[in-house]
Amino acid sequence: MAQSIHKPATQRYALVTGGNKGIGFEICRQLASEGVTVLLTARSEKRGIEAQERLKEYGLSDNIVFHQLDVLEPSSVAAVVEFVQTKFGRLDILVNNAGVFGIKLEGDVSILQEVIERDASVLYEAAGGTSEEVEFKSSGTITQTFEDGEHCVRTNYYGPKRITEALIHLLQLSDSPRIVNVSSTMGNLKILSNEWAKGVLSDEESLTEDKVDEVVQEFLNSFKEGTLESKQWPTRLSSYKVSKAALNGYTRCVAKKYPSFFINSVCPGFARTDITCNLGPLSAEEAAESPVRLALLPDGGPSGLFFYRKEVFYY
Ligand SMILES: NC(=O)c1ccc[n+]([C@@H]2O[C@H](COP(=O)([O-])OP(=O)(O)OC[C@H]3O[C@@H](n4cnc5c(N)ncnc54)[C@H](OP(=O)(O)O)[C@@H]3O)[C@@H](O)[C@H]2O)c1
Repeated sequence: MAQSIHKPATQRYALVTGGNKGIGFEICRQLASEGVTVLLTARSEKRGIEAQERLKEYGLSDNIVFHQLDVLEPSSVAAVVEFVQTKFGRLDILVNNAGVFGIKLEGDVSILQEVIERDASVLYEAAGGTSEEVEFKSSGTITQTFEDGEHCVRTNYYGPKRITEALIHLLQLSDSPRIVNVSSTMGNLKILSNEWAKGVLSDEESLTEDKVDEVVQEFLNSFKEGTLESKQWPTRLSSYKVSKAALNGYTRCVAKKYPSFFINSVCPGFARTDITCNLGPLSAEEAAESPVRLALLPDGGPSGLFFYRKEVFYY
């Protein structure tokens, strides 16, 4: 069926996960504005169709198609793969954007900004310690049960992995395949306090998908048995940090496996969306610019790298 569909070679097809709001919605809007046909996906059919309607107000209705996709549900993934195959016959751009923090935030939400900014400052050596080591001004609290943490890892790490594996054969039909994994500076290895995990994930030569899985599994085992602190895993936003560090590791492995693809991960910057309780210096529109730039990379561009917005970042 796919082979019978003729499309001009210049027409590009993209799939964006979590496209109904925030940065994902903006990625859809900006790609469609560039003439890409975008499959906006969302786990909620209602929220996805509402987003598609909002994009019509920008005059982009011809370039936006909607399909339901919950990255946690294998049957939902299978249905979207079938849809892409039938409707487009191939895929040129995959943006794994959907993500969650997997935390419970109570009281003053500015605690989240304090934690994020403190951890990020460690990367630039501007502060004396990670968020585990300091007192905060905000009276708000952040908690995470094992179930929340596991859900976060399943969404942010296993989700992109499942979607990538399911769509790889359709990306292989593209002349110029691109995968963009929306990650976070919170996944930077400097923030990941567990030395063994850092060692595994930073060993570029010997890193494999199985080793990334092993790190994630060790973390989840430790979370379940209540030994995060004693085993030196992060204890604040822990699942988010580990899931994004694993996503960066996975990005490098897949980039190595598919050398003709352009596959990168990117932190879009700290932006005002629902996940951040609308805190942060950037708008969703500004944050979407860097994933969109990587999705539209010209041939010969980089692969297997982690970016902070437009700059190549270290792991
Ligand atoms: N905002 C920031 O400062 C920031 C910084 C660094 C990285 N990021 C990353 O950027 C990405 C987008 O976040 P955002 O800021 O735009 O947050 P957001 O507004 O909360 O959007 C998150 C999106 O992910 C979707 N999602 C969650 N679980 C899903 C699932 N199981 N299946 C499909 N979709 C699912 C949500 O759908 P529902 O509407 O159904 O919940 C929503 O569309 C995330 O990966 C996040 O980690 C954000």
